[in-house]
Amino acid sequence: MLTPEQIQERVKTIIQLPALPALALEVVEMVDNPKTSAQQLGRLISADSALTGKVLKIANSPFYGFPKKISTVDFAIIVLGFDALKEIVISIALVSTLQRKTDTYFNTQLFWDHSIATGVIARRLARDIGYRVTGEVFVAGLLHDMGISVLNKYFSSEFHRIIEIVRESNLTFHDAEESVLGVSHSEIGGWLGERWNLPDHLVEAIKFHHQPAKAVINPQLVAIINCADVFANQINTEELEYDKGATFDDAALDVLNLHDENLLQEYKNQYSETIQNDLKETSILSHLAAM
Ligand SMILES: [Fe+2]
Ligand SMILES: [Fe+2]
Repeated sequence: MLTPEQIQERVKTIIQLPALPALALEVVEMVDNPKTSAQQLGRLISADSALTGKVLKIANSPFYGFPKKISTVDFAIIVLGFDALKEIVISIALVSTLQRKTDTYFNTQLFWDHSIATGVIARRLARDIGYRVTGEVFVAGLLHDMGISVLNKYFSSEFHRIIEIVRESNLTFHDAEESVLGVSHSEIGGWLGERWNLPDHLVEAIKFHHQPAKAVINPQLVAIINCADVFANQINTEELEYDKGATFDDAALDVLNLHDENLLQEYKNQYSETIQNDLKETSILSHLAAM
């Protein structure tokens, strides 16, 4: 019998985590270089018309909440800032890299709806509790379950087994993952984040979205993502197998000072409305998936 550590080690070595596409990598490096000017960054993105189109679509979506139309990359950089641009480019790269067709084990539409809903709710929740709102909250929500995409794409037989266990038993997805793989989608998502050189607090939010008590770098962000994930699941009428039975984590509620049942219910009602409007209005999945 392999120990959980050995299984984890094996998963880490066999996993063929995709690299960030070259252009996205270039954008990330440019943003991280303090000498980069807005013009240089604009020129790099504008040189790729497909990327430009996608960036503008997302910049104009309600997720960034900018009231005026953003029609050029240069203007997007000015109003949204370097970091938001970087996050947008990473999100685009992620979606196109991990895209898979729907089958009986994985519903692509539901997956991205859930990811986007978690991102949107995370932004709203952050604002509601007075956390400084930046694009990072949306991106952390969008990416929180990317380990699920990795499992589906790179470990499909194990993924199928996990889903079957969840369907046939009362085990949670997490327990089923542990029994089949010895690691969870949270950890796998965290490894991908590290490999993509995402900022540490984003990696942490992905890694601990089901165990917010373990956060040390930015417990608030992790708590927001944990709660947004639960809200997104409660609002969604179709139960997602990989979030089956998700409930608010006490540690997250502590960090956010959110132990008020009535307030939670009120937020849930508000977010439910937002999600319905935003998802309908933008159909962002088709923007992202067609990349
Ligand atoms: Fe998850
Ligand atoms: Fe989730």
